[in-house]
Amino acid sequence: TDNQAFSNLIISWYRENPRELPWRETSDPYKIWLSEIILQQTRVAQGLPYYYAFVQNYPTIKDLAHASESEVLRLWQGLGYYSRARNLHSCAKYIWDEFEGKFPSTYETLLRLKGVGSYTAAAIASFAFGEVKAVVDGNVFRVLSRYFGIETDIATGKAKKEFEILANRLIPKENPGEFNQAMMDFGARLCVPKNPDCTQCPFQGSCFAKKNGLVSQLPVKINK
Ligand code: ADE
Repeated sequence: TDNQAFSNLIISWYRENPRELPWRETSDPYKIWLSEIILQQTRVAQGLPYYYAFVQNYPTIKDLAHASESEVLRLWQGLGYYSRARNLHSCAKYIWDEFEGKFPSTYETLLRLKGVGSYTAAAIASFAFGEVKAVVDGNVFRVLSRYFGIETDIATGKAKKEFEILANRLIPKENPGEFNQAMMDFGARLCVPKNPDCTQCPFQGSCFAKKNGLVSQLPVKINK
């Protein structure tokens, strides 16, 4: 099917163009959660040293739960959006106290953690627990709108639902985490917003936007 062709291609692209990132070497949900919170409003290059510092200072959720908030905030200094650090610390205490340190392991239960929205819950659920749940963000809107020629305004709730349904149809049951990483990297590195280098793209022959000269028109975003 078309869906399988898409997921196979994007995964093969990812395997040939891997970014070696420390949170990809682990299946520890605590470390994956930490990385995803850091990366919510921060670029990978800026987030990396903070990730290393947190893992070194707090190798386990127990260590983070037992730290003082002021120490956690000090370690976060420079990253901004400090509510992320406060939520991180309070979630660690909550998981330590209420779940005996056992990290929530499903998309639905992850969503209940403060600071964890649908994107972060899908990332943790798929990377740490192999749950078949697609991440959907600006990168995913861009890649899918171009490939399939979807003209829905991505600033709308309707678009979010539409792309979630589509991405969850495309994500393969065998390696959901790898598919999600591939979508993130493909959107961040090749199918970029401005002047993507389509000559390097494995989808040149099948991408709707490429075939129809619409790459610069998609995704549609109507600013209100
Ligand atoms: N941005 C958000 N999550 C990410 C991840 N796991 N890898 C790279 N960039 C990301």
